[in-house]
Amino acid sequence: MNAVNPVGVFDSGVGGLSVLREIRRELPKEDLLYVADSGYAPYGDRTEQFIEARSVAIIEFLVSQGAKAIVVACNTATGAAIATLRSRFQVPIVAMEPAVKPAAEQTQSGVVGVLATRRTLLSGNFAKLVARFGADVNILAQPCPGLVEQVETGDLFGDATRSLVEQYVVPLLEQGADTLVLGCTHYPFLAPLIQTVAGPSVAIIDPAVAVARQLRRRLESRDLLSPGAHPGTERFWMSGLPNRMKPVISQLWMADVEVQSFPDAVLLDGAYGNAGHTLRAVT
Ligand code: DGL
Repeated sequence: MNAVNPVGVFDSGVGGLSVLREIRRELPKEDLLYVADSGYAPYGDRTEQFIEARSVAIIEFLVSQGAKAIVVACNTATGAAIATLRSRFQVPIVAMEPAVKPAAEQTQSGVVGVLATRRTLLSGNFAKLVARFGADVNILAQPCPGLVEQVETGDLFGDATRSLVEQYVVPLLEQGADTLVLGCTHYPFLAPLIQTVAGPSVAIIDPAVAVARQLRRRLESRDLLSPGAHPGTERFWMSGLPNRMKPVISQLWMADVEVQSFPDAVLLDGAYGNAGHTLRAVT
């Protein structure tokens, strides 16, 4: 593996761009590849087997594009599949987990709210985090169905999004939470709205900066940091309907980007957001 090779990053959709932007800040010379699996988002309602199969297919693709390291910029995929992914691939893999530890360390009220997908909150990883850091702290797990979909459509401030955020955040505040963990990489794009609903005294924790630093350490330890004299580049792929999602990626990345179609072994019947998500094999 060569230091000039790119880093591969993926998520169930556009949420991982909140991690990608921290990676870009931390590692300005790295070339970055990003796959948004938006055709199959949200992962939060999928089975572990489904999420694992998608994650394997995406990492295989990123490795075929020369990725020297992988960032699983998705808490749900980490919770569902990380052990399999690490045993299956040689390439270094950095993954997400809800930032329960720093939240437990910094809460003053002793109550922490964790906003995440249902699947993340049901995962063994999350149970371990609660067992490890929740002894003296009340950790409230709050699933947030619908929020991923709002971010996938680029609706970060609308009434429907606000009403969902209120529905999930207000009960946590009523139970005394003074610290909220963003346990899904889509949610940092909603942080301004969440802060407005929660008020200025509530701390919001996003682990993306820590993940970017962890990536730097992993690359450094293997002599894989890019020596490039030029700023790194970004390339984007997306399952589902790239043309439809390009504006959302451009909005969240704050630049007009090209989005390529993810070369998939299966295609979606119907548009993103269709209830059945029928899969059809390409022959
Ligand atoms: N961004 C993903 C995460 O961090 C969202 C999962 C989903 O698609 O439900 O969990």
